[in-house]
Amino acid sequence: MTRCCHFLAITLLALGIPEAISSWTSLAHLRPRIDDGVQTRAVTELLRRLLGERASDFVVSVDGAQGWAEGDLDSYELSSTKDDKVSVTGNTGVAAANGVYSYLKEFCGCHVSWSGDQLRVPRPLPRIPEVIKVSSPNRFRYYQNVCTQSYSTVWWDWPRWEREIDWMALNGINLPLAFTGQEAIWQEVYLSLGLNQSDIDAFFTGPAFLAWGRMGNLHSWGGPLPQSWHVKQASLQKKILDRMRSLGMIPVLPAFAGHVPAAITKLFPQANVTQLGPWSHFDCNYSCSYLLDPRDPLFLNIGKLFLKQQLQKFGTDHIYSADTFNEMIPASSDPVYLSAVSKAVFSSMTAVDPQAVWLMQGWLFVHQPDFWKPPQIKALVLGVPLGRMIVLDLFAESTPIYISTKSFYGQPFIWCMLHNFGGNTGLFGTVESINQGPFDALHFPNSTMVGTGLAPEGIEQNAVLYELMSELAWRKEPVNLLKWVSAYATRRYASSSENVAAAWRLLFQSIYNCTIPFYRNHNRSPLVRRPSLRMDTNIWYNRSHLYEAWRLLYLEAKSLASSSETFRHDLVDVTREALQLLVSDYYQEITTYFANHQLTELMTAGGVLLYDILPELDNLLSSEGHFLLGVWLERARAMALEEKEADLYEFNARNQITLWGPSGNILDYANKEWGGLVMDYYTQRWGLFVSTLIECIDQGVPFKEEAFNRAVFQVEKAFVASRRKYPVEPVGDTYEIASRIFVKYYPQAVWNLRKA
Ligand SMILES: *[C@@H]1O[C@H](CO)[C@@H](O)[C@H](O)[C@H]1NC(C)=O
Ligand SMILES: *[C@@H]1O[C@H](CO)[C@@H](O)[C@H](O)[C@H]1NC(C)=O
Ligand SMILES: *[C@@H]1O[C@H](CO)[C@@H](O)[C@H](O)[C@H]1NC(C)=O
Ligand SMILES: *[C@@H]1O[C@H](CO)[C@@H](O)[C@H](O)[C@H]1NC(C)=O
Ligand SMILES: *[C@@H]1O[C@H](CO)[C@@H](O)[C@H](O)[C@H]1NC(C)=O
Ligand SMILES: *[C@@H]1O[C@H](CO)[C@@H](O)[C@H](O)[C@H]1NC(C)=O
Repeated sequence: MTRCCHFLAITLLALGIPEAISSWTSLAHLRPRIDDGVQTRAVTELLRRLLGERASDFVVSVDGAQGWAEGDLDSYELSSTKDDKVSVTGNTGVAAANGVYSYLKEFCGCHVSWSGDQLRVPRPLPRIPEVIKVSSPNRFRYYQNVCTQSYSTVWWDWPRWEREIDWMALNGINLPLAFTGQEAIWQEVYLSLGLNQSDIDAFFTGPAFLAWGRMGNLHSWGGPLPQSWHVKQASLQKKILDRMRSLGMIPVLPAFAGHVPAAITKLFPQANVTQLGPWSHFDCNYSCSYLLDPRDPLFLNIGKLFLKQQLQKFGTDHIYSADTFNEMIPASSDPVYLSAVSKAVFSSMTAVDPQAVWLMQGWLFVHQPDFWKPPQIKALVLGVPLGRMIVLDLFAESTPIYISTKSFYGQPFIWCMLHNFGGNTGLFGTVESINQGPFDALHFPNSTMVGTGLAPEGIEQNAVLYELMSELAWRKEPVNLLKWVSAYATRRYASSSENVAAAWRLLFQSIYNCTIPFYRNHNRSPLVRRPSLRMDTNIWYNRSHLYEAWRLLYLEAKSLASSSETFRHDLVDVTREALQLLVSDYYQEITTYFANHQLTELMTAGGVLLYDILPELDNLLSSEGHFLLGVWLERARAMALEEKEADLYEFNARNQITLWGPSGNILDYANKEWGGLVMDYYTQRWGLFVSTLIECIDQGVPFKEEAFNRAVFQVEKAFVASRRKYPVEPVGDTYEIASRIFVKYYPQAVWNLRKA
């Protein structure tokens, strides 16, 4: 019996349910349904995109029968052929692709990441001494958070998606969220129910806020969605799904969670629709959405209409995501109510797809622990038959829920690393926890864990963590972190320099080793926050390690910056992090001078910050293609059909990373250190702050925070309203700029450390 069926059998027996009646509660039906030949071709084409003509050195074959015999677990086999090729066989396309990537890493020293590739593949291919067989202990390797769609992928075209799906396959991901284009279907459903276009326009948010519209947190903010959006997104979704399925992935589609347009209340006055309270710092102009009681007959109707249309347009792999209570308190904590709700949500899925499995984000349990006590959690998850809901233990590296709920009371769960909030730039990681956590969860008594996952709110940052976590999904035990990261550095830059390996070990021992419980990767640096006299400058690691890593990378910069894109990226990233610390030092000096009325000193420190550090940071970021505001904005504009739409999309793009709402409702949550943004947004704010402090000393008046906030809001609003263009290609020489910064500021950084 397979491992995943084994636990269910145990639980079912414990509940007195014979195994036979639940043959497909084992989740065995969640598997690629496309033929082996198609998957083989898809992997071969992936390798051609990745390796060009060297792809022909690999002989790929997908044999579905092979892996499944070993117990539903994905597996691959690697061997060398007589003619110096490498043969890879996987039971799915994903398994085969992951096999190739593990060979490329371990035998060829290669590397593929969001921030660049290192693909100098030796010729001929290094031989594999004896056949390698690997199987993943994790039935599912999940990817994405419902927010990733808004923070990272919202403006992607097909080539960018194609690259991401390749990355997923190489990293062994087989359960990706596929949320693109769902508004096209929702629109049809609501029109068919009798709503008109203005009803719908008052419902959908703009593109950059769809994640929160879908979860009922927001409505209409950043909207309305142009018709061309629906057309383009629906056609993008078809390509995405085709590609995912051809590689043997099992895409997760959306289902109805109960959030409806306000007009439903007029059209169906009998339906039990409640208006929810305001979400986060929004008022009811854009929040206080409407929730249809899942027990109402209309719920089943809408849920069915949606799934039927979706099935017709996009097909299905029998797994659906729905979050009814994300960051929102249910109407009642009565377990009877909660279990009736989840039963009803699930019934609307099975009414269309009898084999439906509900994938639910477990974020609500982390976010509102005062509401979600054991009886409430138990009621919600057990409202669905055992084995028909998979819970994402979303922030398991910090706040695992599976322990206190004894494996979600028998429902299968996936151990997820959330890692990133708001898609912020900033080095961060909890390496010890991700290295150990999934194995602890697997060995937990009567564990119902069926996989691991990556659930970041935003991607394209800290690539190292995602590579590590993906690799752990295929391992039977934790890695030696320092050894692992040394090899990572060597591969990433194609450099055997001891300095770069030492730099990465230091990073893993400090900034990537956050052990503070509940600490979120949210860049809280004063640099990216609205200035005030009460800013948080705390950090979780020993700064001297970061500065030493900075120095070690700098020592190699002359030779590696020209040869390695990934090195240039990391040189920028580590220098950026060091400058961010230096900004905190300057901030603290400035506030001290202010308190002591030292005008000259304050002006000097403010001058260095405003006229050197921040502009130099902007120069540095602008010199590297992965840190450009221009790319984010131009991608947004490129999604539009006409100028008016382009302006709306640019407004969305600018607002999300700054004010996040009309009035700074979730101010700077999605902050980014990007070339262009540092100069035209953060530096402008700091300029106003420093000049306000100077004026206060000059006129002998105290700093008034509220007045300052009103004034600085005008600066922030002006940035969002601006349509200034920014380069979409890097400007300047990274090595030159990084060296200038190092020479100017490293001694001072180290000096500040001694002083502290
Ligand atoms: C949609 O219906 C509402 C009333 O429910 C009406 O006020 C509005 O003008 C209609 N909009 C359109 C575009 O017909
Ligand atoms: C809601 O919108 C109205 C009309 O635009 C505006 O007058 C009002 O101030 C807004 N309410 C809040 C609380 O911002
Ligand atoms: C309507 O729905 C709310 C929230 O789901 C629930 O508390 C209430 O009891 C329902 N009312 C009726 C009449 O079913
Ligand atoms: C595991 O499940 C078995 C069978 O239901 C039960 O007897 C045992 O007590 C459980 N162990 C723990 C630690 O919960
Ligand atoms: C991370 O920190 C913990 C606690 O201080 C320590 O035990 C562990 O060895 C550190 N890990 C690394 C990779 O340095
Ligand atoms: C930080 O690291 C440096 C260098 O290893 C060490 O000398 C210093 O004591 C550490 N500081 C703290 C607070 O642990």
